[in-house]
Amino acid sequence: MAEALRIGIAGLGTVGASVVRVLADKAAELTRQCGRDIVVTAVSARDAGRDRGVDLGATKWFDDPVELAQKADIDVFVELIGGDEGPARSCVKAALEAGRHVVTANKALLAKHGVALAEAAEKRGVLLNYEAAVAGGIPVIKTMREAMAGNTVTRVFGILNGTCNYILTRMEAEGLSFEDCLKDAQRLGYAEADPTFDIEGNDTAHKLAILTSLAFGSRIAANDIYLEGISNITQADIRAAGELGYRIKLLGVAQRTETGIEQRVHPTMVPTASVIAQVNGVTNAVAIETDILGELLLSGPGAGGNATASAVVGDIADIAKSRPGFQHGPVFGRPAKELTPYKKAQMRSHAGGYFIRLTVHDRIGVFAAIAKRMSDNDISLESIVQHANGTETHAQKTVILVTHETTEAAVRKAVEGVTRDGHLTSKPQVIRIERAG
Ligand SMILES: NC(=O)c1ccc[n+]([C@@H]2O[C@H](COP(=O)([O-])OP(=O)(O)OC[C@H]3O[C@@H](n4cnc5c(N)ncnc54)[C@H](OP(=O)(O)O)[C@@H]3O)[C@@H](O)[C@H]2O)c1
Repeated sequence: MAEALRIGIAGLGTVGASVVRVLADKAAELTRQCGRDIVVTAVSARDAGRDRGVDLGATKWFDDPVELAQKADIDVFVELIGGDEGPARSCVKAALEAGRHVVTANKALLAKHGVALAEAAEKRGVLLNYEAAVAGGIPVIKTMREAMAGNTVTRVFGILNGTCNYILTRMEAEGLSFEDCLKDAQRLGYAEADPTFDIEGNDTAHKLAILTSLAFGSRIAANDIYLEGISNITQADIRAAGELGYRIKLLGVAQRTETGIEQRVHPTMVPTASVIAQVNGVTNAVAIETDILGELLLSGPGAGGNATASAVVGDIADIAKSRPGFQHGPVFGRPAKELTPYKKAQMRSHAGGYFIRLTVHDRIGVFAAIAKRMSDNDISLESIVQHANGTETHAQKTVILVTHETTEAAVRKAVEGVTRDGHLTSKPQVIRIERAG
């Protein structure tokens, strides 16, 4: 049998401790599958005295993860600390420079430094595996990097943040407010104490940036993503969406257009009957559209110790099975030096249907004025509905418009016009509609 593969793990929190546990519990099965033992020989975390519920007796402890990366007797360095700078970046860089294979679950690090790290890995002929960084346990990286050779991707989109999907699912199912659902998500451990990163879409954007590079062979451009979170979504939007045959999801979408690549993260209306609309709670999903395959949808657990450890262990097993000269392909599906510069499509050129909800004074001429602003901007309407919702003293109405395909620029101009006309009693709500099968 080949020599054991020696693993060093930096970070023993939710994911790190689960990886140690899975490698121990499944040791015999993994040895059968890989043809060699996989042994954790070194670990690092902040607090050496903390009980993590796993046996670390046979491992060497390092206070400094960079030292572990450089000096420990290991073949594979597993980074499970997190963060786009600081110790995570330093130790991954050090491990690659020392010629170790690296496995990481760190989307923030890859979104910011992925291309440079891929270049470092490819220069030294080592692997940089990161299945757990996008959609947790769903094997989307492997699918895109290995199983779809020859396909040209036209669009990739997904529900990439379990916290947001949990909140939107409960808002719809139970008629609760965004704030109440967020509090429950925090109580149940689905949301961080500071949930901004999840609910404002940044976490989704990190994962989308990685998918975009794999899909279109372009350099990662996480700062060029149009970003809108879910904190402005109200019961009025959820109810109106339902009446119109839509469900609201926070999607990350990357799409090739005539002018470049669109990358956007925002609340999206998808047809209630579509497959992605059925993905509820903390579950994640990624849809990939290609010329050969058509549309593929992968769904499953996007976070949590076990699900994430499943992806990390899969990456480690791939390295255990690889032999010099017979490794899987480059980090982002093509050599890092051949990734093309990212050509951004302007958000104003985005084409699609729109849902527009306006709360207006209930007075003569308002309806006609809104319709005129739309037609002045060449926006054709699929439906326009009004509901009375005011009191006798403050008579107001809700007007809900659904447009046929138009552009972001036209919608922004029309809504600015309606706002300038002085008919609105509160901020207009605009939600993009996404085509989904
Ligand atoms: N949790 C998930 O469901 C999930 C899903 C997908 C991807 N991920 C990614 O997986 C990574 C780890 O996440 P997690 O949830 O496991 O985080 P976590 O529970 O906060 O664990 C972080 C670990 O890093 C250690 N650490 C922090 N600073 C360190 C330093 N300077 N030197 C050495 N160790 C240090 C901590 O040590 P102490 O324990 O001693 O404090 C802790 O063990 C992140 O990149 C995250 O984005 C997580």
